[in-house]
Amino acid sequence: MIESVFMNKIIHPEISDIIVLPNQIEAVKASSRKIIEAVQKNHEVSITYATGNTMIPVYAELAKAVKAKEVDFSNTKAFHLDEYYPYSPQGEFSFVRFLNEKVFIPLNIPESNRNLLDGTAKDGYNEAKRYDALVSRGIDIAILGIGPGEHIGFNERNTPFDSRTHLAQLSDETVYRDQVERGQDTPGKALTQGIGTILEAKSILMIAYGENKGKYLKNALYGEITPYSPASALRLVGDKVCIVIDKRAADILVD
Ligand code: PGA
Repeated sequence: MIESVFMNKIIHPEISDIIVLPNQIEAVKASSRKIIEAVQKNHEVSITYATGNTMIPVYAELAKAVKAKEVDFSNTKAFHLDEYYPYSPQGEFSFVRFLNEKVFIPLNIPESNRNLLDGTAKDGYNEAKRYDALVSRGIDIAILGIGPGEHIGFNERNTPFDSRTHLAQLSDETVYRDQVERGQDTPGKALTQGIGTILEAKSILMIAYGENKGKYLKNALYGEITPYSPASALRLVGDKVCIVIDKRAADILVD
């Protein structure tokens, strides 16, 4: 079913598409629609899936569409954006667990098409290297959120723009959010696709709602392009970037 919703755009000098929806529900529908259309067009599409609260309703929409037989993800290839390290895939806050529960199983993505980041690998550096080689075979769509310190994935402030998948030290801001605000038992390190790795995707879909995300985006989109603002790197490849936001985030952007 095609639903028509009110949609507005923000014109930006580098980012080709910034779509504003009146509320979070509509932003979720618009972003999931984009993913569904990409899979309908190419059944073997490779997708990097971000995790986090932003993505939960988006992936629920994808699951609904699969259940309704609108779209078939079973030949798509799935990749992680990041994973805590060291952390067990059975851990409550593991991103392997998140993706299994919210993406891989509900979207019927077979195990052979799931490319997992191993938070239990003995050597995090080697695991990052192994994973980077897999991702480098080519990602069609990288789905991203934005978080503390304008991070993308777990690329914190001052991560080089040409960074590859690596073991990252999480910033104090991110650790505070995870451990204090969210009560997670997660460590202060994580494996993450690097900024250079992410930017190589053929297309990038960033999804953000609410005022807080609006503030991160405002700096990233209108401040200096600098590793101090990891998300500002998206402006270097802005012609393949689409950002879907709700009005609350947009009001901060245009303020
Ligand atoms: P969130 O995380 O969607 O849970 O807010 C986003 C991020 O940290 O990149």
